[in-house]
Amino acid sequence: METVKPELLKTLAQKASTFSHSPFSKYPVGAALQTEDGAIYTGCNIESSSYGLTVCAERNAIAAAVVNGHKKFRAMAVYSLNGATPCGACRQVIWDICGNIPIYVFDQNGHKKMYWTKDLLPNPFDDTKLEKKNNT
Ligand code: THU
Repeated sequence: METVKPELLKTLAQKASTFSHSPFSKYPVGAALQTEDGAIYTGCNIESSSYGLTVCAERNAIAAAVVNGHKKFRAMAVYSLNGATPCGACRQVIWDICGNIPIYVFDQNGHKKMYWTKDLLPNPFDDTKLEKKNNT
């Protein structure tokens, strides 16, 4: 079990934010996700001219880890200029894929706050709630 190094995750999330494709919002975000075995995958926000197709940094970091075969996660860092917490869609996907992990939120001054997924998404909907009905 690898230890979590929030400062390393911050550095990697900040670096990832420099790759952000955000010509519409001009709001770069970076994320770094540490897997259970210590690997770290990063993501940045990628915006689309069809605005609703934009994908946040957090979900791109999760996708990068998952497509490389990872299923268990230890921690995530998110970097933005003003230290925004993950959006609602990302909270759902973090819960679905990573479970209850510490999420370190950093701003450009290096200020840090830590949140658990379960506190960002109380009373979540998830696979345990998928009661299946026939003929739908
Ligand atoms: N964004 C993220 O990447 N992560 C968040 O947690 C909040 C929002 C992106 C989406 C969009 O590209 C820009 O920030 C403004 O909403």
